[in-house]
Amino acid sequence: MSMLPPGSRLPALVQSVHAGRDPLGSVHGLRRAYGPIFTRRLITEPPQVVVGDLEAARQVFADPHGATLVGCPRRRLFEPMVGEHSLFTMDGPEWQRHHRMLAPALRGRSIDGWRDTIAEIADREIAGWPVGRPFPVHAAMRRIALEVILRLVWGSRPTGHHDRPAGRHDRLRALAPRLLERVPLAALVMPPPVRDRLLTATGFIRMRRELDTLLYAEIRDRRADPGPGTGDVLSMLLTADGQALSDREVRDEMVTLLQAGHETTAVGLAWAFERLLRTPRAWDRLRDDPSDEVFLQAVARETVRVRPVALTGARRVVAPMEIQGYDVPAGWSVLPMIRLIHQDPAVFEDPAAFRPERFLGEEAGAAMRAWLPFGHGARYCIGARLAMLTMRTVISRVAATTDLAAPDPRPERPRLRQVTVSPASGTTAVACPRRRVSAPG
Ligand code: HEM
Repeated sequence: MSMLPPGSRLPALVQSVHAGRDPLGSVHGLRRAYGPIFTRRLITEPPQVVVGDLEAARQVFADPHGATLVGCPRRRLFEPMVGEHSLFTMDGPEWQRHHRMLAPALRGRSIDGWRDTIAEIADREIAGWPVGRPFPVHAAMRRIALEVILRLVWGSRPTGHHDRPAGRHDRLRALAPRLLERVPLAALVMPPPVRDRLLTATGFIRMRRELDTLLYAEIRDRRADPGPGTGDVLSMLLTADGQALSDREVRDEMVTLLQAGHETTAVGLAWAFERLLRTPRAWDRLRDDPSDEVFLQAVARETVRVRPVALTGARRVVAPMEIQGYDVPAGWSVLPMIRLIHQDPAVFEDPAAFRPERFLGEEAGAAMRAWLPFGHGARYCIGARLAMLTMRTVISRVAATTDLAAPDPRPERPRLRQVTVSPASGTTAVACPRRRVSAPG
């Protein structure tokens, strides 16, 4: 006999109101009421199975029997921005072809040399911080993360560098963040005809067209004359052997990497400082030795463990699947809830505590197995190495150069904004230059 997981019997409309009012709290409430695997019904979505159990989540992410699609449930939210030829929105052989082309450009060996550029970007940003007056660290991290993607993924140069033709890069750099800010999330959940009218009315379509014109011109010029190359992802894609991507496919992947990599990394960094400034033991240790790579790595890992940036990685079930004795019918969605797993006391001891040491020494193996901030399996985040490198480098530069304090010692509340969970007050902090400045590590 087929058996669904337990779940609320309230009508979908009531469940949707609860989820809308308190998206994070309602998930924790359902977990307490029904256990780690439960159903949820929302009016705008197919029925859902929410998975807050580690082994079950690993099974869903790994999908050994190919029972789910990943690109398909993302399409509604992301296609207007990233298009249909994106790692984000594709499944099957086309996804595989793109993955084979893109993954090598973001692997450890390709990006290790990027550290100096990231440190330089961080130093320039830090130098502009106000002294002795509260400012939002999240916004500062957004500028850094954007610059990292523009320089190292798109290969765009700031003003003053060789630019062909003059001004194109400046316009790309100005447009990219404005377009990201314009994505009207409320419009994306509407039926396509309504959605498209709203996207036009908000100016999104016009701006996207403008950005695309610039990007296509850049792609064409770089194909014709690759120039010296800066080791950026776009250059690597355009010079890669094998099944080359079309201009349209390259455009979609460039916008994908911008959208997927910019705000996520910024939120990860915002949380790192939000937590560090409230955990003097860890912050002092970093400031004593800002180039301790092992501890920096543990801090970055613990940040996205205790405050995961992404809530979930939704799957659409296409063939009935079994999850720990429960049957999930085709047509349903399955949501491995990263947040629930990272806060499960059966998985992480004292899960609410910010304790980077859990990623050092003997505990580290078990902690890493349960560490799912970037997902798991074939659809594991392709930018995870870059995100971690950026976090380590920026944390190191701030610790080395700046005295930073949180004016309010109370923790900032997590708030779901679009698809990321960020600090509700933007990580408010006060900065002063450090008296003894360490050299870049
Ligand atoms: C702290 C920062 C980041 C976090 C927490 C994060 C998290 C995630 C998660 C949870 C997924 C979905 C996994 C799934 O559904 O199975 C994902 C996918 C993805 N991420 Fe990231 N990410 C981050 C940074 C980046 C960066 C820097 C880039 C690129 C420059 C990037 C590019 C992507 C892409 C293209 C995918 C789709 C992969 C696929 O479906 O094949 N991410 N990320």
